[in-house]
Amino acid sequence: MTQPWLDRRIQSLFPVALVSVLIVGTTRLFLDNLKSYDSKIFEFYGEPERYKQRRPVFVSPKDRFEESCNVFEGKWIWDNVTYPLYSEESCPYLVKQTTCQRNGRPDSFYQNWRWQPDGCKLPRFDPLKLLDILRGKRLMFIGDSVQRGQFESMVCMVQSVIPEGKKSFHRIPPMKIFKAEEYNASIEYYWAPFIVESISDHATNHTVLKRLVDLDSIAKHGKSWQGVDVLVFESYVWWMYKPTINATYGSADDIKEYNVTTAYRLAFETWANWLESSINPLTQKVYFMSMSPTHLWSWEWKPGSNENCFNESYPIQGSYWGTGSSLTIMKIVQDILQELKIDVTFLNITQLSEYRKDAHTSVYGERKGKLLTKKQRSDPKNFADCIHWCLPGVPDTWNEILYAHLLQNHRNLL
Ligand SMILES: *[C@@H]1O[C@H](CO)[C@@H](O)[C@H](O)[C@H]1NC(C)=O
Ligand SMILES: *[C@@H]1O[C@H](CO)[C@@H](O)[C@H](O)[C@H]1NC(C)=O
Ligand SMILES: *[C@@H]1O[C@H](CO)[C@@H](O)[C@H](O)[C@H]1NC(C)=O
Ligand SMILES: *[C@@H]1O[C@H](CO)[C@@H](O)[C@H](O)[C@H]1NC(C)=O
Ligand SMILES: *[C@@H]1O[C@H](CO)[C@@H](O)[C@H](O)[C@H]1NC(C)=O
Ligand SMILES: *[C@@H]1O[C@H](CO)[C@@H](O)[C@H](O)[C@H]1NC(C)=O
Ligand SMILES: *[C@@H]1O[C@H](CO)[C@@H](O)[C@H](O)[C@H]1NC(C)=O
Repeated sequence: MTQPWLDRRIQSLFPVALVSVLIVGTTRLFLDNLKSYDSKIFEFYGEPERYKQRRPVFVSPKDRFEESCNVFEGKWIWDNVTYPLYSEESCPYLVKQTTCQRNGRPDSFYQNWRWQPDGCKLPRFDPLKLLDILRGKRLMFIGDSVQRGQFESMVCMVQSVIPEGKKSFHRIPPMKIFKAEEYNASIEYYWAPFIVESISDHATNHTVLKRLVDLDSIAKHGKSWQGVDVLVFESYVWWMYKPTINATYGSADDIKEYNVTTAYRLAFETWANWLESSINPLTQKVYFMSMSPTHLWSWEWKPGSNENCFNESYPIQGSYWGTGSSLTIMKIVQDILQELKIDVTFLNITQLSEYRKDAHTSVYGERKGKLLTKKQRSDPKNFADCIHWCLPGVPDTWNEILYAHLLQNHRNLL
């Protein structure tokens, strides 16, 4: 099997693209005093007063999908009635990196697609039900900036049903924490681009070009994950910068270049050991998000072209899998999960996201913490970000699938 990095063109492009977008910069919040009750979710689910009723969560049969159904196989259906689930303006917690409309993106079709599995229906997202399930609990997303997008998406999906003054958002690097006070529930994010420890662990001031991963160290991070009720992990794109990566294993002084696949396996074995020694499967639940695809090379879906995701307004029709999504890496995760003594649910969102060449931030995002300049925007070949996603957008669907699984695992009290 050919590795993506053996393609010379890809090898020359990947570093450029990654270096240009992985810098997190200082992610500032838009603290606009925008009303947050006017989102679609709110229209669908009634008055905010309703949330005060301490109803026990009841998951009805229509909230559950059939166990036999593969929710990751299906297609994108145009649905501008139900989607987006919130608007950019209705969510004060979105960072500049994801607010494509505000940043000048002319088209908005990317917000209006609903994922329809072939074999079943996903339950409709109900923020009140999710908050009920999370009552007295912590949900934490752990990973890189793609994972941070999923965290922000989840916060935006629930926040509109919580009145002003009953919710809070704090940045405590490397974490971000959203709290729904009356539920004593929190949705959190923890920056750990490699999951294991590395020199890139500072939330804002981290190296991108220079990487050094400590393949057998996780305890420092793990302290912050201890006792969290629902953990959602993800880590991929930071590994894929070159075919090899500098890392240590055993002695901290013994820096070696490892094959990325070898390093990834060792790191996730460290992670697996941490899970086995730290997770109580009776009270905690663990999810792993499969890789988020990139759309860096338009020749992959439009043969003969030589662009990227810039100016793409529609999803890909028909089968498609980009070379950037390594099945070798996916297999490593699968092998490790199979050997684990505790149950980790693998959410295989890669294929459904592969179709969405239209949904990246492209030139309507930021670089090094700043929006692109006009000049940079006119040079999409060098400046388009085809890794991160606009919000609202594709990460909302990942969260709908996560939500469906949380409902699936919920036991109604009789
Ligand atoms: C929704 O999409 C339909 C079909 O493309 C279009 O006719 C209609 O104007 C759209 N509605 C809105 C509110 O954008
Ligand atoms: C609130 O939730 C935390 C866990 O997130 C828990 O430790 C604490 O006991 C809860 N407090 C109350 C009053 O339920
Ligand atoms: C960022 O980190 C580097 C290396 O650790 C340090 O020299 C520099 O002062 C830091 N910059 C800021 C703004 O904290
Ligand atoms: C590993 O580190 C050495 C020394 O800093 C550097 O020359 C080399 O390019 C690095 N390798 C990778 C794959 O980054
Ligand atoms: C690295 O991977 C390549 C191709 O997968 C393989 O040929 C090579 O032996 C590996 N090197 C090491 C040191 O594992
Ligand atoms: C975007 O694509 C459309 C056709 O799909 C084309 O007409 C237009 O010129 C393109 N815009 C840019 C800036 O490349
Ligand atoms: C994830 O989905 C893809 C596409 O359907 C499939 O090729 C791959 O084997 C799946 N991975 C796992 C670990 O199930």
